[in-house]
Amino acid sequence: MAKLSRGQRTGAGTIALLVLAALSLMLMIMLVMGLVAVPTGRRRPMDEGAVVELKLPTHRHGDENPLAPWVEVLSWEPRAFLYHHFLTQEECNHLIETARPSLVKSTVVDSATGKSKDSRVRTSSGTFLMRGQDPVIMRIEKRIADFTFIPVEQGEGLQVLQYRESEKYEAHYDYFHDAFNTKNGGQRIATVLMYLSNVEEGGETVFPAAKVNSSEVPDWDQRSECAKAGISVRPRMGDALLFWSMKPDATLDPTSLHGGCPVIKGTKWSATKWLHVDNYAV
Ligand SMILES: *[C@@H]1O[C@H](CO)[C@@H](O)[C@H](O)[C@H]1NC(C)=O
Repeated sequence: MAKLSRGQRTGAGTIALLVLAALSLMLMIMLVMGLVAVPTGRRRPMDEGAVVELKLPTHRHGDENPLAPWVEVLSWEPRAFLYHHFLTQEECNHLIETARPSLVKSTVVDSATGKSKDSRVRTSSGTFLMRGQDPVIMRIEKRIADFTFIPVEQGEGLQVLQYRESEKYEAHYDYFHDAFNTKNGGQRIATVLMYLSNVEEGGETVFPAAKVNSSEVPDWDQRSECAKAGISVRPRMGDALLFWSMKPDATLDPTSLHGGCPVIKGTKWSATKWLHVDNYAV
């Protein structure tokens, strides 16, 4: 009896060893194929980006550091978030001064032809900067990628816009209705709109399809009539508004309808980053 049970133990031990050996072999094959990776503990340096630049506190800090960044959830329909103090004043000025010499009157896309056309619904001036045009722009684009979790390669070049008094962009969608404009990178999935200047009055970004409860907006009286049509964002130098044109189920979100209210007093400068579902060739 004792002999037999010893024999059974030996058999079980052999099977366990064989299973272990098989598992080790599988792990080695997976390592070689790159299916699994051993963490090396190495970090990429700050200026290379990685995920190190961003902290996403969800609540406003105390007043001890008024420039500390924080992210505010504006709305879930549309999905819209305001990143306070996303850019420094120097970065804002750099974008303005880089764009200023090449400003031209803005156009809109004709949904019948997919071509650009002049329009009374959009009266600003603007220009496109190249993706990765200089080290400051590269750094900003990496920060946008970190914030949105969408790679730099899926973004168009920044578009810098200037709205002088009475200039505006009437409510529109950022997604396309034509096949022409989705050839490069597919549909636009999200937009990051950065405010490069303060505006004394007006110039808000408004989402007219998003219901707003005025008693929950502390500075309601300081918003223009246009902004009161829905959830709105007052331009503040350095703040970045992220909103999604597509829902998580990959369908278009009609509540992402948005407009730039007429500037009443001052000049509004903004920079827009449109992000696509796929790589965007520049
Ligand atoms: C608007 O917000 C206030 C304050 O939170 C609340 O008391 C009121 O019921 C809300 N009104 C509506 C119509 O939801």
